Amino acid sequence: MANVCVITGGGSGMGLETARNIAKDVILVITGRTLAKLEHAKTVLEEEGHEVHLITCDVSSRRDVHELCLLAASLGTIKTVIHAAGLSPTMAEPEQIIRVNAIGTKNVNMEFYKYMDQGGVIVDIASSSAYEAPGILVKHQIYEMAEYDEDNFLKHLKREAQLPPDDYNKSGMAYTMSKNFVVWYAQKCAHEYAAKGIRVVSVSPGLIETDMGTAEVEKADFARKMVEMTCAKRMGRPEELGYAIATIADERNGYLCGIDVLIDGGASTGKKFKK
Ligand SMILES: NC(=O)c1ccc[n+]([C@@H]2O[C@H](COP(=O)([O-])OP(=O)(O)OC[C@H]3O[C@@H](n4cnc5c(N)ncnc54)[C@H](OP(=O)(O)O)[C@@H]3O)[C@@H](O)[C@H]2O)c1
Repeated sequence: MANVCVITGGGSGMGLETARNIAKDVILVITGRTLAKLEHAKTVLEEEGHEVHLITCDVSSRRDVHELCLLAASLGTIKTVIHAAGLSPTMAEPEQIIRVNAIGTKNVNMEFYKYMDQGGVIVDIASSSAYEAPGILVKHQIYEMAEYDEDNFLKHLKREAQLPPDDYNKSGMAYTMSKNFVVWYAQKCAHEYAAKGIRVVSVSPGLIETDMGTAEVEKADFARKMVEMTCAKRMGRPEELGYAIATIADERNGYLCGIDVLIDGGASTGKKFKK
């Protein structure tokens, strides 16, 4: 049976760049909400020699994610899941951000766990923003609820998102908390899924020059300051992250699990060494 790699958010940005770095004998399944975006990505990938299947899916819908699993499982052995689908503060209001980034990650991990086996790997894309979450708001007992009481989990994160004064920062707080959840949840899953031989790891990019990252830098002062804190004084390139994410997913990286890989160009350590 052929090996299958599923990439949520595979129609653009880092998801698409990761797909380009996956071995050509692996069947790709790319997904997102917009068919035209997926069709364009499929053409690009096929021209480069990949076999590509696509299906529209909203990761915040458990049913959609289930359909995605069924398609992927029908094509071969699901070895790799790159979960790159997400929304940033400029793109949506807090509830949608939490539903897509946090509940979407729970849906993807929980559904694919059922269809994956020994040697499988799930890479959840978080964000360096996860590290900015105010400690007082990080409540792991609330995060636990995502799996069994989604409504209360959502209610709690929505309440936290209301703390900042303006709409952009409310969405920013929703983003930060949802990505903090992703980092925590990937670690939880890593320890649970290890019993089945499945590796789980999260990746936290800094500011990356995709449409999403560029929109944030145009909108927010602190995002521009973050770029100034990097070693190279620039945003990351989508292809750099695509290569890194595909490498992290590679089975030769078998000992890399249960941890977040922060790829922010040194922005977080820049604060320590700023002159
Ligand atoms: N760029 C940055 O600076 C940066 C920094 C840190 C973390 N990240 C994270 O990296 C990941 C990839 O982002 P990117 O920068 O590559 O931006 P991107 O090009 O906008 O990629 C995000 C993808 O997610 C898909 N998506 C959004 N909502 C979805 C949903 N509900 N269900 C399924 N797919 C959905 C989008 O397609 P549709 O709109 O068609 O659904 C899009 O293809 C995201 O999780 C993002 O939060 C980005």
